[in-house]
Parts: sequence; C-alpha cells; structure tokens
Amino acid sequence: MGEPFQQFDGHEQVVFGRDDDSGLRAIIAIHSTRLGPSLGGTRFYPYADDTAALTDALRLSRAMAYKAAAAGLDLGGGKAVIIGDPATAKSEALLRAYGRLVESLGGRYITACDVGTYPADMALVARETRWATGADPVEGGSGDSGVLTAYGTFIGLQACASELWGSPSLGGRHVAIQGVGKVGRRLAAYVHEAGGKLSVADTDASAVEWCAGQFGAEVVGTEKIHAVDADIFSPNALGAVINDDTIGELQCRVVAGAANNQLADPRHGEALADAGILYAPDYVINAGGLIQVADELHPGGYSEERARARAAGIGDRLRAVLALARSDGVTTAVAADRFAEARMAAVGGLRRFWLPS
Ligand code: NAI
Repeated sequence: MGEPFQQFDGHEQVVFGRDDDSGLRAIIAIHSTRLGPSLGGTRFYPYADDTAALTDALRLSRAMAYKAAAAGLDLGGGKAVIIGDPATAKSEALLRAYGRLVESLGGRYITACDVGTYPADMALVARETRWATGADPVEGGSGDSGVLTAYGTFIGLQACASELWGSPSLGGRHVAIQGVGKVGRRLAAYVHEAGGKLSVADTDASAVEWCAGQFGAEVVGTEKIHAVDADIFSPNALGAVINDDTIGELQCRVVAGAANNQLADPRHGEALADAGILYAPDYVINAGGLIQVADELHPGGYSEERARARAAGIGDRLRAVLALARSDGVTTAVAADRFAEARMAAVGGLRRFWLPS
C-alpha cells in the first residue's frame, strides 16, 4: 500500500476541492466528528505532489482529534491543506474559493490558521463561510493563538514542577527555551515573571537579543540549547527535536514545550522515561491555541477570560495523564493517547456524524 493509505485511521471523510479560476487545490480531511465538529488549521504549503499533501492532511487531522479530546473540548479533528506556494499562489480569489469549499461542508469542518495562513487570510475565508476562526479581533476573531498556547504551556511547566519538585513554583528554576517566536517569547516572559532563569536559542538573532534585553536570558547556540544543564528543556520551534542525536545530550529533568511532534519516534518517549526525564506530551500541553480558537464558536462570541480559564485546565489534564502513565506503567506519550481515546469512547459514543443545527 502507498504512503497515504498508511495514514488512514478510520477517517470519516476526505474532500478534494478545486477551483480552476483561482487555482485553488485543497484537501480537507475529517478524522472524526464523534465529539463535535472537526476543527483544525489550514496549511498552505508547496507540497511535492498530491500524495504528500494527502498524507499530511490525514496525519494532521488525526492529531487534531487527539488534541481536542485530550483538551476536553466538544470538537473532533480535522485539517486542511492548500497545495501551492503561499508566497505566489495566495490571492483573495483563492482564499474565498477555499472559504466556499469549507462552507460546503456545512460546519462539519471548521478552519483556523496554520503554517502559511494568517489572521488576515482567515478574515477573507470568513467572508464566504461561518466556519472560520483565527481572524484578528477587529474582524471578530481571537487573533494570535500564540497567546493562550504560551499560557497553557506555562501552566504545564508548573504542573511538571509540582510532579517532580512538589511545588508548582518556577522560582529559581532554569528553563532552556528553543525558539522564541510567538509562543516561546511569551513563555519566556511567564518564566521570568515567576522568578525563573532563562537560556534561549533561535535562528533569528533579533529574537534572542530581545529576550536577553527583556529578561536577562542567556543566549545559547541553536545546536546546543537542548544540551544546556537546565531543569527544563522547552522546545518551541521544531518537531522531532527529541531524536537519536539529541537524546543522549539532554541534561534536563523535564521536556515540556509547545512544539508539535517533539518525539522523532515513539521509542524516544521510552528513552526519556528510562533516563528519568519527565516528558509533557506535546498535544496536551500545547492545546491553549486550540482552546482559544474554539472559544470563538461560543454563541456569545469570543471571551478571552473564559478561554484563559479553560486553558488553565491544562494543568489538571496533564496531571491526570501523568497519573495514568504511572498507574498503567506506560510512557506519558502513550498515556496521553489513552486519555484522549477514553474521552472519545465515553463521550463520543453519544453522537456520530455531527451535523450543524
Ligand atoms: P513561530 O514561527 O512564531 O516561532 C518559531 C520560532 O522558532 C521562530 O522565532 C524561529 O526563528 C525559531 N526557529 C526556527 N528554527 C529554529 C531552530 N533550529 N532553533 C531554534 N529556533 C528556531 O511559531 P510559534 O507560533 O511560536 O510556534 C512554535 C511551535 O509551537 C511550533 O512548533 C508550532 O507548531 C507549535 N504550536 C504553536 C501553536 C500556536 O498557537 N502558535 C499552537 C500549538 C503548537
């Protein structure tokens, strides 16, 4: 079987859409609507071919289903890909054609920003469909989802501190942050405010200089940040940073950050556990952004206060996952999957094939 078929995992629906006038070619994958409408961002990317695009849509939509379930949201998992180079292919006509494709699903798929799409794009998509989130506040959206992603990640760091050191306080703790972009620089601010010590690395020199100036952070080379002798290593840039090359060099007690797919392979979760390093499963700790955009669906509109309160629940959910790992004798990553699957089974049995009212 070819590559995309390996990614099929009981997906409920996959839609191929095209609009020749604007050049739109898109795939929307709905993994599941068992817990509610599927929500996930739109990735605009110059895929090598349609197979690569389909593989990505299938893989990412499944991951969104697990993230939403673990976050306790009444949402399923979906993801869309637009095939093309956003720098040259993106236009108002294309985004609006895409918005009509999303609308045609009647709310079974709700979109948001992802790699290659921004709040201004969502504002255009939203002119054609009710089922778009992530536009700027002036357009009725909640704006940059890095805000609550960083907050939820910080709450997760505190939960890890409680687990290991008996107190959520990060005062005096040393946190090494890889990537100080939209999420990482806000996380750095929280850690600094809590009295923690920071080391930071980023390929963007101005980003690390800003952190050094604002928070007294020590600047470290990008190839060295994972190996800093810190209490916590926090990946907030790339996926697959816990791999065969890095794992032996870690000196931290905790790996906890917002980057998606931090483990290059599931066996790296076992290797972390064997080394006595606590791993906060990525999709549990980085759900703040999803919680933020999901709140836009509230009948009364987005409330940052309500969304922030829900993101604070990441602490309790992470503690539940860590407890499950202990009781089942499995890695924290495996426990996260079991935690999500338990919610899908318990609550998702109530409804299938979600239809908008
Ligand atoms: P961003 O693009 O604003 O920041 C990423 C930063 O990493 C940039 O400053 C970039 O220069 C830096 N970087 C790139 N390569 C690097 C390297 N080799 N070493 C060190 N730094 C490097 O992205 P954002 O929004 O801050 O997201 C960070 C991570 O969190 C990503 O993996 C993203 O997928 C994930 N995430 C983000 C969410 C959000 O709401 N923004 C939600 C859930 C996950």
